[in-house]
Formats: sequence, C-alpha cells, structure tokens
Amino acid sequence: MAKGNEIIVGLDVGTTKICTVVGEVKPDGSVDIIGVGRAASKGLRKGIVVNIESTVESIKSAVEHAERMAGVEIRSVNVGIAGGHIKGFNSRGVIAVKGGEISQADIDRVVEAAKAVAIPLDREMLHVITNEFIVDGQDGVMDPRGMAGVRLEAEVHIVTGAVAAVQNLVKCCEKADLEVADIVLEPLASAEASLDQDEKDLGIGIVDIGGGTTDIALFHQGSICHTSVIAIGGNQFTTDLAVGLRVTMPEAERIKVEHATTLMSNIKENEMIRLKSALNSSTSSKRVKEVPKTYLLDIIQPRTEELLNLVRREIEESVCGKMITAGIVFTGGATQLDGMLELAEDILDIPVRRAVPTGVGGLVDTVSDPRHATGVGLVLYGVKKEFANFDMRSLSEDGLFFGILNRMRSWVEGLFKF
Ligand SMILES: Nc1ncnc2c1ncn2[C@@H]1O[C@H](COP(=O)(O)OP(=O)(O)OP(=O)(O)O)[C@@H](O)[C@H]1O
Ligand SMILES: [Mg+2]
Repeated sequence: MAKGNEIIVGLDVGTTKICTVVGEVKPDGSVDIIGVGRAASKGLRKGIVVNIESTVESIKSAVEHAERMAGVEIRSVNVGIAGGHIKGFNSRGVIAVKGGEISQADIDRVVEAAKAVAIPLDREMLHVITNEFIVDGQDGVMDPRGMAGVRLEAEVHIVTGAVAAVQNLVKCCEKADLEVADIVLEPLASAEASLDQDEKDLGIGIVDIGGGTTDIALFHQGSICHTSVIAIGGNQFTTDLAVGLRVTMPEAERIKVEHATTLMSNIKENEMIRLKSALNSSTSSKRVKEVPKTYLLDIIQPRTEELLNLVRREIEESVCGKMITAGIVFTGGATQLDGMLELAEDILDIPVRRAVPTGVGGLVDTVSDPRHATGVGLVLYGVKKEFANFDMRSLSEDGLFFGILNRMRSWVEGLFKF
C-alpha cells in the first residue's frame, strides 16, 4: 500500500465539513495532492467541537474516503484549529549575549524570554513564531547565529487557545485512530496555500470566512503580525434567511447558495424566487411560495456588512493594520456569496481577491475551491515543517513544535485518566 514518497496529511475539522487532504512529497520537494476526503461535519459549533461522537464519525469517514482515493493508509495528521477562543499577540524578549558571538543557546534563551508572558491556566500556547531578531539595535535580522553582538532581542507572535477546545480536538483525532503530528491555526494554514512570499513582504491579509468562523491573519515584511478569529461565518447568513423567510435550514442554505446577493445591481426588476415554506398547511405538506429577491438582499446585506465591519475593525486595531498595502485575500466557502467581494472592497477600502489553494500539483481540480485552502495549507505547513528548507523563523519555532507535541501528549494522557 505504502508509496515510496513521503506522505503528509492535512485534516481540516471545519464547522460544516471535515476535509482530509493527502499530499505526496516528491524527491524535488514539490507536493502532489493524491487524495481528498470530505464528510459533513455535525459535531462542531463556531469552529469548536461540541459533540465528540459525531465529530469522530465524520473524521473517520473523511479519512476513509481520502485513503481510498490516495491508496495509502493515514496514521498521522496535521490538524487545523480555530474558534473564538483563539488569541494572538506580539511579544519581545531581550538577553545579553554570552561571549560576544551569538550561539544557538542565545537564540533559544531570547525566544524563551519572549515567551515568558503570563497566560491564564485555562489557555495554552499553540504557536510561538519568531518574526525577527534585533542585534544591538539592528532590526530585520533573520538568522543571528555567529553574529557579533552584546544585546539580542526577539520579536515573536504568540497564539494561544483554550486548553479544553484543543483537548477535545486531539481527543477526536485519537478516537479516530489518528496521531496528531501538529495542531496549526487555520488562518496560518490557509495563508500557506493562498499567499506568496512577495505579498507577505509587502503587507497582506488573509480572511477565511467559513461556516462558523472568520479567521484573520495579517503579514508584513514577510512576518506574521496579527492573528484572530471572529466567531461568525456563513452559517449565520443561513440562520438569518431561515428565520427571515420562515424556511428550514436546508432550504435556507439552498436559497443562499443559489439566489442570495449583496448587490442590488444583480437583482432584475420584480425578480421573484420560489421557496418551500417550513410551515405545514392542512392541505399540503410543504407550501411553495414566491418572494421578491430583494427580501434576500434585505436580510443578507446587513449581516455581511456587519461581519466585514468587524474584519475592518480587527485590521485597523492591529499593530500592522496600516501596512497591509497589497490587499486582502479571501478564502473559505462563505466568500462565494454573490457580491461579497465587491462589498468587502467598499468596506475595507483596499484591493481584495478570492483565492483558491495554489502551490500543489496532482488533483488540482479537486482542491481548486476556496473551501479547501485550509486543508491544502495544512499539508503545505506539514511539508515545510518536515523538510529542510525551514528558515530561521521556523527554526526557532522548532522548540515549539516539540513543545506542542509533548504538551499534547500530556493532555491526552491526562484525558484518559478522567
Ligand atoms: N456559493 C455559495 N454562496 C454562499 N455561501 C456559500 C456558497 N458555497 C458555500 N457557502 C457557505 O460556505 C460555508 C462553508 O465554508 P467552509 O467549507 O469554508 O467552512 P468550514 O471550513 O466548514 O467552517 P469553519 O472554517 O468556519 O469552521 C457554509 O456556510 C456555506 O453555506
Ligand atoms: Mg474552514
């Protein structure tokens, strides 16, 4: 069964779908997608596991599909995490260099110093990403090893999450007989599949609007400067339509995907849409009625504006908000809402584009969908971590990777003691 090349698997545990993406790393370092498995997700709310059994079933089903398509057995996965509990912030550490030349031990010490921030007991560090080093006041140093200096500083971006939410995600994977190779913040994974280094150098943001959450990551000068998760996504639009039109959720979902728009100019004069009312009448089990399409706009547009204004506020209040000059890249299923990008460009007042995952070969058509940015990104993140060309920034994250794995192991061990 096993293939000759290394296999890296991404597991995107989303609010509406669970998606397993299998990547095969070729000898030249490029990645082919060789399997994709999807299953409806029933055990999550707003990006957080709320039902272990349903989530395990969905994970198993998505993994089995991917295994069949790829012809490999999946044992270990890079799993994505999101949810309103995620918080990202920047921190700085300072040390005196021993012996006048910066060694790996100095680098480890300065990163430790930057990590030394008070975190509540119910939260855990998920990522500590070293963005740059500053040697004797000179900033922008990526690899200070071997440099002369007396004062070494490190700028890091720290992402924390609620221990319970992480534990439940790990628990679901373990129950589905999967080993968790790493837990990755979803917007970081989506960025891996959707942004290139030039854009990150210039200043760019990624906004992934899924079913339950809107995940944001901002980059400037090649480094990550802001991450956050807003607990609103496309499902909120569906709920609004269901309530406003008095239809069932599946019918509201259909209406949203087929008819909803945020643009008046996309509605023809007196355009009507047919829908099945949720009300059972005495004469027929389902009532079909017609409503003006502008009704949908009246419901959908304010909600979309509200969400995009929250995104705008997040960007404006971040330390690098003013430096996001290249624009904002949108991914996630909910960005397919008709008129979403036009409204986003107006509200954010910056160029926007919708991205589909790039940087991979193989089953490109299958993953060419903004909903797959996270799954493909998890594979690319795993490949980057696993293989050599991991630069200095990531190198100093090494300790973190092992740290996370060890911590996760202890959490999981703790879980089974309950
Ligand atoms: N054509 C479309 N128009 C509007 N919305 C759409 C369309 N296609 C998909 N969606 C919405 O996209 C959402 C699902 O997107 P996605 O698969 O990225 O979410 P997820 O990864 O499951 O959730 P999350 O990342 O929030 O946990 C759903 O709310 C769905 O209704
Ligand atoms: Mg998602």
